[in-house]
Amino acid sequence: MAETEATPDTTHRVPTSDDLEVSTYLEIARQREGEQPREGVPPAPAHPETIIVLDFGSQYSMLIARRVRESHVYCELVPFDAPWEDVQKLNPRGFILSGGPASVYDEGAPLAPTYVFDSGLPVLGICYGMQLIAHQLGGRVAPSAEREYGHAVIYQGDSPTDVFDGLPPSMPVWMSHGDRVAELPPGFRSLAHSENSPIAVMGNDAGVIGLQFHPEVVHTPQGKALIENFVLRVCGCRGDWTPGNFIADSILRIRRRVGDGRVLCALSGGVDSAVTAALVHKAAGDQLVCIFVNNGLLRREEPQRVQETFRRHLNINLVYVDATDRFLERLAGVSDPEEKRRIVGETFIRVFEEEAESALGGGHADFIAQGTTYPDVIESAVGHNAAVKIKTHHNVGGLPKEMTFELLEPLRYLFKDEVRQVGLALGLPEEMVFRQPFPGPGLAIRMIGEVTREKLQILQACDWIVMQEVKRAALYHELWQAFAVLTDTKSVGVMGDYRTYGHVVALRAVTAEDAMTADWARLPYDLLARIANRIVNEVPAVNRVVYDITSKPPGTIEWE
Ligand code: XMP
Repeated sequence: MAETEATPDTTHRVPTSDDLEVSTYLEIARQREGEQPREGVPPAPAHPETIIVLDFGSQYSMLIARRVRESHVYCELVPFDAPWEDVQKLNPRGFILSGGPASVYDEGAPLAPTYVFDSGLPVLGICYGMQLIAHQLGGRVAPSAEREYGHAVIYQGDSPTDVFDGLPPSMPVWMSHGDRVAELPPGFRSLAHSENSPIAVMGNDAGVIGLQFHPEVVHTPQGKALIENFVLRVCGCRGDWTPGNFIADSILRIRRRVGDGRVLCALSGGVDSAVTAALVHKAAGDQLVCIFVNNGLLRREEPQRVQETFRRHLNINLVYVDATDRFLERLAGVSDPEEKRRIVGETFIRVFEEEAESALGGGHADFIAQGTTYPDVIESAVGHNAAVKIKTHHNVGGLPKEMTFELLEPLRYLFKDEVRQVGLALGLPEEMVFRQPFPGPGLAIRMIGEVTREKLQILQACDWIVMQEVKRAALYHELWQAFAVLTDTKSVGVMGDYRTYGHVVALRAVTAEDAMTADWARLPYDLLARIANRIVNEVPAVNRVVYDITSKPPGTIEWE
């Protein structure tokens, strides 16, 4: 596998998965032509109330933002030193200071900007964020050499406080056993203690609150309610950030931005591009043209399903291109996984470019709609995005100079689960909205060695059975991905009176929160047996099925 040859920072792999790939091809293609990183990123939704999470480097920062949004309040994650001019535009209603690896006494330790405390808005400091409150407002932090977390129980003090509204007198939490507040700043009191810590929670009358534990993680079962209390009761937010409001607001903005311009959208079959297209269609109607390139490397019936949904159900102007022959010709004789990826990307761009031109009758598109989501945005801010990763390996080739357009990214501020909610509210079918991630190079990287039509048919047949049985067992949504891999091994078998010599197929099923790590799924034996039996009986070229029990790391999810 190429993974052993590639150095870690030049890996081709897409960390976020799903249909980012199509966007990534386009992004790379544009940059090839010397296009500078785009300016004028569209402003965040003009929502009347935002909670600002200042990121001090905690691994959980993004999780905090998600928890706030689960309370139906819009939330953005910004660097700890974001200037007030940027923050002010978001119409802040409160601040959350995240945890972080530093200690307040470290040289150059990141501090909360003065506007946080000068604004008079409520503040919730989590771990390092709490220590900053103490340190910057005149209290004292006791440093500790340890950096440990663990279960603890906190006990509320006597005076009732909004942040604990409706919560029990004692609660299990995921506690930080590192630095802690030793002396309260003036005007603060302890709101809860734990066995080891007299000041597990502190607060003042202005709604500035510090927590020595992490409310955003699942190990703090009441954490979500606590965050909800902070945003709704302490900050006084209305909690009207809902898919319906988001859609209504987006439609207005898209209309304002697009005017009577023409919009192109590349569909991949995945949820992000599907929701993007459905949303833009609501706003711009027939000014939107979608292009769906069948690269011949898709799952069985996928092209039909995409066409059915977009053309028939949503009435979207869809250009369907069956470019199977072209992709397979270009892939002929190629075994190296990186080379397969490069060819798929390059060919996609060429096909897209040609089809865009003919779909627009030689005219040009003013906008390209892309399914970029919030995690992509945040990751690209720190340089880990898929585009950066793929780019190092992929020579996709630029788009022609005359093909210039602005980007329309209506999902730019949404998390994946919000994208799904919006998709459902827009009437997309559940099977598309909750589809498992599928890589851009598709089945090409699920067959070891050369890509041939015959091998594609075998793999599609096996994949079909895996999908059917996993769905029948009601495990589809529980698994991050489940699929078949066509190995390059053949083995001897016996069927009836005959000796067979056929392909070995590997099953891969993993559970994961995101694609960075994954665990092999403990599928029930009878499900494994059914899949294996069906594959061997129904796919004549295959006579043996094995199950991959490698987690990631050290394995990757895909075999190539
Ligand atoms: P790995 O194999 O790196 O996969 O553990 C992580 C996630 O990314 C998907 N993947 C890709 N997606 N183009 C894509 O669009 C690719 O080249 C690619 N390689 C892997 C994989 O399916 C998993 O969800």
